[in-house]
Amino acid sequence: MKNLKTNYMGLELKSPLILSSSGLSKKTNNIITAEENGAGAIVLKSLFEEQINYMSEAALFNSIDYPEAADYIKNYSRHNSLNEYLDLIKTSVKAVKIPVIASINCISDTEWEGFAAEIEKAGAHGLELNMNVFHYDYELSSAQIEQKYFDIIEKVQASTKLPIAIKMGKTFTNLPNFIKQIKFRGIKNFVLFNRFYEPIINIDKMEMTNSSALSYEIDIKQSLRSIAIVKGMMPDLEIAASTGIHNADGAIQLLLAGATGLQLCSVLYKKGLKEFKTINEDISKWMEKNDYTSIDEFRAKLSYANIKDPSIYERFQFIKQVTAIE
Ligand SMILES: Cc1cc2nc3c(=O)[nH]c(=O)nc-3n(C[C@H](O)[C@H](O)[C@H](O)COP(=O)(O)O)c2cc1C
Repeated sequence: MKNLKTNYMGLELKSPLILSSSGLSKKTNNIITAEENGAGAIVLKSLFEEQINYMSEAALFNSIDYPEAADYIKNYSRHNSLNEYLDLIKTSVKAVKIPVIASINCISDTEWEGFAAEIEKAGAHGLELNMNVFHYDYELSSAQIEQKYFDIIEKVQASTKLPIAIKMGKTFTNLPNFIKQIKFRGIKNFVLFNRFYEPIINIDKMEMTNSSALSYEIDIKQSLRSIAIVKGMMPDLEIAASTGIHNADGAIQLLLAGATGLQLCSVLYKKGLKEFKTINEDISKWMEKNDYTSIDEFRAKLSYANIKDPSIYERFQFIKQVTAIE
């Protein structure tokens, strides 16, 4: 097996393949199996701000007869959710040698100061910040929405020294500029991209329904282009790809675009955690065939900065392609 070492979030990983935050990463046995099959790191299931609020509101509702107890019950329920999460961090850190990255999903900047500090104390090696600010508020400009992200980031940064990675959604007016503004605040690690819930309409039942939660291998395209562009413009960033990595072919494409980490989720649901082993081996075989001894030798070789004609990553090229079809 070739040397597959990579650096991500300031941590040395023995493989760029990372178990993505999901239902799979809230069970210790999966975390151990992922390590046994060659995962380089684990991102734990997210602690969701909305879930904490929901649980504390539900506890509050059940205590409606005792309004004087309301604050106590709300705080108790909040801390209960957090304590369960801290236990998951502690158990996982003990169970494996690879880095364990905690994940929080925030919608506001109100909750996280204390929580992030507790997560650091529990022994996590890093913190992934998965922000979910509502993007369709008619009254808010893009700049105002982006400010909400900065507010959350600054609050979390003030309460922990852990390396932080920002897990991004796909819908920003100017992604490189937004990332540059986050970088200016001292963050170098990004995950491109999160895969959000996308409802569709069932035309027989005339109702909204879920589309597939799991991705397909063609879904790497947006991460591929964005990573190539962002890494090309800001080479010192450490970027983990997420969405659509189902095999070594997609994984190698993303490394060539400039990824430093590769997060796997859907493929593990579809085929099992042994896919870490298969994909590591297939990356290694490709390296053997192409005379590479380390990932650093070919990472970002085809990024926006390193190809002869970077306009291939731009929309202009797309127009050329469609106008050529008759
Ligand atoms: C069942 C399921 C649960 C997930 N839970 C989380 C989560 O708690 N936090 C998070 O940041 N992402 C979560 N994700 C998103 C994944 O981490 C990942 O970013 C996304 O699925 C795209 O990667 P993929 O194409 O390999 O599935 C979840 C995805 C799935 C399918």
